[in-house]
Amino acid sequence: MEAIDALLSRKSSAMLDIPAPSPDEIQILLQAATRAPDHCRLRPWKFLIIENDARKALGDVMVEALRIRDPKASDAMLEKTRGKPLRAPLIIVVIAKVEEHPKVPNVEQVLSAGAAAQNIMIAAHALGYAGIWRSGAPCFDEHVREALGATGNDQIVGFLYLGTASKKPILPNEPIDEYLEFWTGKDRN
Ligand SMILES: Cc1cc2nc3c(=O)[nH]c(=O)nc-3n(C[C@H](O)[C@H](O)[C@H](O)COP(=O)(O)O)c2cc1C
Repeated sequence: MEAIDALLSRKSSAMLDIPAPSPDEIQILLQAATRAPDHCRLRPWKFLIIENDARKALGDVMVEALRIRDPKASDAMLEKTRGKPLRAPLIIVVIAKVEEHPKVPNVEQVLSAGAAAQNIMIAAHALGYAGIWRSGAPCFDEHVREALGATGNDQIVGFLYLGTASKKPILPNEPIDEYLEFWTGKDRN
């Protein structure tokens, strides 16, 4: 797929099935990720590949985390949480590995990891797969962070659920004019 076609036609899919990207295709996704802009070449990222039974282990971690956050969580909530990582055959967790740097504020390092995540989403789409970038409480939860190796100022920027879409998504028309303004500098007070 041409780059512009891929950019203009990507749409998230929540319903994901096999096949997932193959090991060789995952390498392509990660190569695309590491083409993200990166101030001072800090390479501020870590990518965790979670597939097969590791998804169940992630579900267990999410349940443990929910129990800590909310000791009154119902059995239904806990079971729903346990099943979340099973919604796709492949999850790539993108972690911003953030370090103090005199020229590169923390937010730039998180943005760089976010750009890497988006490159993965676009590359997966270009290879014929679909996915959805998810976050939620687990991204910010200490128990999950520890289980996934995020320490200090590291930030889990997303759980990228990847696989094959069960339905062809409908592309919305974006009202670009609503987001656009030509700034000329002439209206300044
Ligand atoms: C950082 C980030 C976190 C997100 N977290 C969630 C999430 O937890 N659950 C969810 O349904 N969508 C989440 N989204 C939104 C979806 O990834 C997606 O963008 C949205 O469903 C709209 O679909 P589209 O990407 O096809 O426009 C998140 C997006 C970003 C950028």
